[in-house]
Amino acid sequence: MEVIIEPDVDAAAELAARILVRRIREHPASVLGLATGGTQERVYAALLRLVHSDRIPTDQLVTFNLDEYVGLAPDHPASYHRYMQQHLFAAMEGGPKRINIPNGLARDIVAECAGYEQAIREAGGIDLQLLGIGEDGHIGFNEPTSSLGSRTRLKTLTAETRWINRAFFKPDEEVPHHVITMGVVTIMEARTCLMVAFGERKAAAIAAMVEGPVTAMFPASALQYHRDTMVVIDEPAASQLKLRDYYQGVYAAKPAWQRRD
Ligand code: GLP
Repeated sequence: MEVIIEPDVDAAAELAARILVRRIREHPASVLGLATGGTQERVYAALLRLVHSDRIPTDQLVTFNLDEYVGLAPDHPASYHRYMQQHLFAAMEGGPKRINIPNGLARDIVAECAGYEQAIREAGGIDLQLLGIGEDGHIGFNEPTSSLGSRTRLKTLTAETRWINRAFFKPDEEVPHHVITMGVVTIMEARTCLMVAFGERKAAAIAAMVEGPVTAMFPASALQYHRDTMVVIDEPAASQLKLRDYYQGVYAAKPAWQRRD
C-alpha cells in the first residue's frame, strides 16, 4: 500500500481528485468504481472543480457504485442513487456514459447481485475503485466477518454502522438493516484502489487497515493483498500509524515519473 499523508482535509481531497482526474484525462473511457459517504462529498466537490476548470471530458466514463440500501427508492433522500446525483452526476455535463448502482428495490436480490457482477465483467473490470472506510473496517458495506472471498450480495448492517449512518436519515426514519454491496473480492479485482479517509475518528481504522493483521474481522485489511492501493489521508487520520514517518519520507522522495496525480 502506498500511504500519502496530506496536512489537512482540503489538501487530501484535492490530491484524491487529482489522481482521479489524471486517470480520466489519460483514459477517458475508464471504468470507475465510486463510493459514498461524507468523505467522498469532499472528493467529489474537488473533482467537479477540476473537471470544470480543466475541461475534462467525462462522457465516456462508465461507473459502478459500491453499494445501496435495500428498500430505498432511487429518489429517497438517503439513497445512494440520490447521493450520487446530488454530489457528482448532476453537475457533470455530458457524462458519464453509463452509471451503475445496485437496485435496492430489486424483487430478486440474488439475480440483481449476479447481474451486477456480470455488468462489471462486461465493462472490462474496474480500473480505479474509490473507497472510504467505516470505523469498524468496512469497505463498501462489507461489515466485520464478511468473507474475504465475497462478491456482490445482500449484507446486514451492524448496529454501529446503522447508528453512524442515521445522520443521513430523518429523525423518525429507520436506517435499513439490509444493503446490496460489492464483495471484498469484487473490490480486490479493481486494478487500482484509492482509499480516502479524513479525521481522527478514522485514525484507528486506518492503522488497523495498513498495519494490522489481515482478518475478516476488519475487511479493509484485505487491501494489504492488493497490488496497487493508494491511501490518501489527512494528518489526523494518520495519527495512529506506527510507520508514519516512513510513509512521509517515501512520498517526499518519490521520483516524479512515479507520481499518479
Ligand atoms: C458508508 C459507505 C462506505 C463508506 C463509509 C464511510 O458506510 N457504504 O462505502 O466508506 O460510509 O463513510 P464516511 O465517509 O461518511 O465516513
